[in-house]
Amino acid sequence: MKVGVPAEIKPDEHRVAITPAGVREMTSHGHEVLIEAGAGEGSAIPDALYEAQGARIIPDADAVFCEAEMILKVKEPQPAEVEMLRPGQLLFTYLHLAPDPELTRGLRDSGAICIAYETVEDANGRLPLLAPMSEIAGKIATQAGAFMLEKPLGGRGILLGGVPGVAAANVMVIGGGVVGMNAAFIAIGMEADVFVYDKSIDRLRELDIAFSGGCSTVYSTTLAIEEMLPRTDLVIGAVLVHGARAPYVINREQLGLMKPGAVLVDVAIDQGGCFETSHPTTHRDPTFEVDGITHYCVTNMPGAVPITSTSALTNATLPYAIALADHGVNGAIERLPGLRPGVNVASGQVTHRAVAEAVEADHATVEEALGSGTEKHKAEVS
Ligand SMILES: NC(=O)c1ccc[n+]([C@@H]2O[C@H](COP(=O)([O-])OP(=O)(O)OC[C@H]3O[C@@H](n4cnc5c(N)ncnc54)[C@H](O)[C@@H]3O)[C@@H](O)[C@H]2O)c1
Repeated sequence: MKVGVPAEIKPDEHRVAITPAGVREMTSHGHEVLIEAGAGEGSAIPDALYEAQGARIIPDADAVFCEAEMILKVKEPQPAEVEMLRPGQLLFTYLHLAPDPELTRGLRDSGAICIAYETVEDANGRLPLLAPMSEIAGKIATQAGAFMLEKPLGGRGILLGGVPGVAAANVMVIGGGVVGMNAAFIAIGMEADVFVYDKSIDRLRELDIAFSGGCSTVYSTTLAIEEMLPRTDLVIGAVLVHGARAPYVINREQLGLMKPGAVLVDVAIDQGGCFETSHPTTHRDPTFEVDGITHYCVTNMPGAVPITSTSALTNATLPYAIALADHGVNGAIERLPGLRPGVNVASGQVTHRAVAEAVEADHATVEEALGSGTEKHKAEVS
């Protein structure tokens, strides 16, 4: 298969979808890898390192999209990239379609088969291609929040860990999954007083054991959140319902319960945001203020640390990308069934139920959309 890797064009996005190690694996499986010139530069990977492992460097994105049968990317395709997709072409990348009906429409119209990293599942129903970026985003969330709490940046002017004789700040993490756990891990390390809220008691049990009581775990309800807000300096929003738009856990009225200069970091912004007052921001202009509360809502937080993120992402995506290149979509799904929920749009149809509901589109099964599938999968969906 011809596998194409364009340079990312989302603002301040410096990750790239393959490393030289990935090129080596792909070429040793007999595939041809086409990389847009300079695609790895932001992650400190010069073209020559790709070429040394057998990649062909292509001068522009147009030519990559035109020649490749599968496009590997990092972030959701931007409008110019959607234009370049063609029927039957495979696109493997983050998509985050639930809050984006326009992109969903564009991908349907393209006729391409679009597989979202963030809805690929492992055998336990977890999200192996979201997890590495969630680990990074969770760690950045606490760093960014701590920074934004500084007075010159508009924050309350409180140090997360306090000092002997002066109390630490209170950090509230809503959603104790991968992002939440990593955010809490750093906040505990910075010696803040940390409270993790989740709707899953099993998850709270796991966190309690993992942190040996180093943070408080709280069953997440509207009242529990409201009771904590007046005491909180930093809130990190990290909830997720797979594939769906993020639920609101703090509304505008509840901002009035908070201290002026407190900070909200909405990591779930890529799924539409979990605070009513959130809207997407960029690394270049990461924050805005609503009712005296700083909001940090960067949709591609790991893009700020591409040297770490590119390796972490591609370590996770490579086995799936190789399976797709070796066996095509149906063959790869047979071998790695968790790829099936990854297929969000195929041949003009929305094939992920939560996405279809969120964007108010009709839903078709993957097998209906692709006009094929294994007997096992057909039995599962009938
Ligand atoms: N902004 C970025 O750059 C960036 C990067 C990585 C991940 N993310 C996003 O961060 C979010 C979290 O990702 P994750 O990998 O930690 O997901 P996850 O599935 O590991 O964890 C989500 C947690 O939220 C909990 N939850 C769901 N609804 C809740 C509610 N109403 N109240 C409290 N808890 C609730 C779940 O029980 C689960 O434990 C996702 O939207 C993901 O796309 C953003």
